[in-house]
Amino acid sequence: MKPSIASPLYHAEPIEQRIRALLSRMTLPEKIGQMNQRNASEGYAPDYLAEELRAGRVGSVLNVADAGIVDELQRIAVEESRLGIPLLVGRDVIHGFRTVMPIPLGQAASWNPELVRECASVAAREAATTGINWTFAPMIDVSRDPRWGRIAESCGEDVFLTSRLAVAMVEGFQGEDLTEPGKLAACAKHFAGYGAAESGRDYATTSIPEIELRNVYLPPFQAAVDAGVATLMPSFSELNGIPPTGSEFLLRQVLRDEWHFDGFVISDWDSVRQLRTHGLTENDAESALAAAAAGVDMEMAGGAYIDHLAGLIEEGRLSIDVIDSAVANILRIKFRLGLFEDPFSKRDRLPPLLDADALATAKAAALQSVVMLRNQGGVLPLRTDGLAMVAAIGPLADAPYEQLGTWIFDGDPACTVTPLRAIEALLGPGVNVHHVRAMETSRSKAGPAFDEAVAVARDADVALLFLGEESILSGEAHSRADIGLPGDQVELVRRIRATGTPLVAVIMAGRPLTLTGIVDEVDAILFAWHPGTMGGPAIADLLFGVESPSGKLPATFPRMVGQVPIYYSQKNTGKPPSPDMIVHIDDIDTHAPQTSLGMTAFHLDAGYRPLFPFGFGLSYAEFQYHDIRTSAAEIRLGESVTISAELTNRGGVAADEVVQCYIRDLVGSVTRPVKELKGFRRIRLEPGETATVEFELHTDELAFFGREMRLAAEPGEFHAWIGGDSDTELKTTFRILAAD
Ligand code: NOJ
Repeated sequence: MKPSIASPLYHAEPIEQRIRALLSRMTLPEKIGQMNQRNASEGYAPDYLAEELRAGRVGSVLNVADAGIVDELQRIAVEESRLGIPLLVGRDVIHGFRTVMPIPLGQAASWNPELVRECASVAAREAATTGINWTFAPMIDVSRDPRWGRIAESCGEDVFLTSRLAVAMVEGFQGEDLTEPGKLAACAKHFAGYGAAESGRDYATTSIPEIELRNVYLPPFQAAVDAGVATLMPSFSELNGIPPTGSEFLLRQVLRDEWHFDGFVISDWDSVRQLRTHGLTENDAESALAAAAAGVDMEMAGGAYIDHLAGLIEEGRLSIDVIDSAVANILRIKFRLGLFEDPFSKRDRLPPLLDADALATAKAAALQSVVMLRNQGGVLPLRTDGLAMVAAIGPLADAPYEQLGTWIFDGDPACTVTPLRAIEALLGPGVNVHHVRAMETSRSKAGPAFDEAVAVARDADVALLFLGEESILSGEAHSRADIGLPGDQVELVRRIRATGTPLVAVIMAGRPLTLTGIVDEVDAILFAWHPGTMGGPAIADLLFGVESPSGKLPATFPRMVGQVPIYYSQKNTGKPPSPDMIVHIDDIDTHAPQTSLGMTAFHLDAGYRPLFPFGFGLSYAEFQYHDIRTSAAEIRLGESVTISAELTNRGGVAADEVVQCYIRDLVGSVTRPVKELKGFRRIRLEPGETATVEFELHTDELAFFGREMRLAAEPGEFHAWIGGDSDTELKTTFRILAAD
């Protein structure tokens, strides 16, 4: 009999009551079934799963995105299992579904939380048409190593920017009410410190002192939890000797006791059994014990829970309370999603895939994510009058799949608009747009096609070079030790340069690249990340000045890979470098005494500056920051100070600018970074227009974990800057006094 769960009366009860009522009716195998997530992709057709579902041995499936199959799986679960508990249907909906938005790192370059929220919201509603009700996103690992392939999925290097965008994405996926059609449960991942993998090698060891963990890597997760994220995923890696999948410190102490998270924790793919591979446990049963005891509520793939949890309970090694609370956490999210009322796909109640609204959001996101890194002599925007021939050269000019980037299970390259197609459409038949691919892939070597490219460039009014990395070079397990342009792309740039034709590089990539070898060889650079379905039209609009570039770097671009990790919020050191204190390796005198080399924290062959700093990005407008001031020279703990400045557009076009506010806490109980982002705002100014930009900072926002491992602001002197990137020098100061 399937009874009260379906009755209207039952639905009216508070969720916690419904959870208790349901739990009290569940057998141990049914409880463990809820903690089991099954792969439902090819080879796991519904027939295979049907028996498991009927037996109540599966709480969730992943990797199925076909409404017919999902609805059938749900039907079996709710109609043919004893208790009729619906399924969570999970999927990696990372940066779009059918409509692919820019990769998350690109979205982060927009510094536009509202737009990022909208991207997540479009992705959620498209995915929901297939019955997916849960996404494994957002990925909010602070990422300071561009060698790491998964930096593409992140919001970059900064704690504050990542935290703000984490909230935006959770809000976009989940909405205000998870029962609304078109909303998905979100999953904050990978908890925690995954981005600090040694040498940027995916899955590699991370060693992060607790104070750094709390000040840098945890805040985005806490922000996501505070925003109501439904689920959370521990990382594959190990952290200070303990893989997060088995870390009671992370999953119980921090997540539950300190942050009061009431959603559930899903393991990463087979990461429960991998505890054994890590060398933490001897066998799968011990792994199941370690993960369940630590607080992993559901196991993704793997099977250690379904095989071993019952035995562990029988042997008295695992308390039934652990199982009950895990199942309660999972059921809570199922209830919040409204799955007991309606578990089926929402295809009839949602707009079609790739509708005009989704494409407009994808284009806006691509437009705002492109960062102009160079514009020598104002070569951009290109003028259309008098333009007869454009050379569109390179492996990424017309590569519909590659511009979508990593994690695009459900994207459709056939719907991609490439830059080549968009430029042709924008210029119309009057201009000859001559395309030479020149390289089969971004990794190809120089060949005869280079000669053709040179010949075409020589005849053209402008050469547009579409360079970078194809999709497969970033993402999970796709890390690189050398982050330069692959193959013979630099050689291609040099050969085109020699023609004397104005040269614009449009670079698509999943990470910051070392562009030192080409930066002086090209007139302009637009860095477009992997811009998604509508990347082409956005790039065309930017090249021809329909809109001004306005993206800002969410991660530092090093000069050379040996500088990594290099990020703007580094510590000062006891021997900070300055321009007059550094010596280049080529300038060392043969008999130079040791001390003549500056004796500060720099590299002899790279100095200490990156190629492009965090927050950097040029515009067709000319923004001038001036008149910075503070509302008070002194404030007390518990009060706020307002930092403001004037921003004037002295250029000839209207454009967006991302205004950034940084602080430095000069003296702390533990040393503090030389700059920390504390606010940002995207504003649009007409030519000649001036705006006052204000950032109100409460002392709570200046708090950090200090020597006592307690979150608190400390009295003392602060610097505050407002500007267009992290190098800004427009500074004021204020002081925090102890509370009365
Ligand atoms: C492994 C990845 O680390 C994780 O981010 C992803 O959600 C799962 N696989 C599922 O595909």
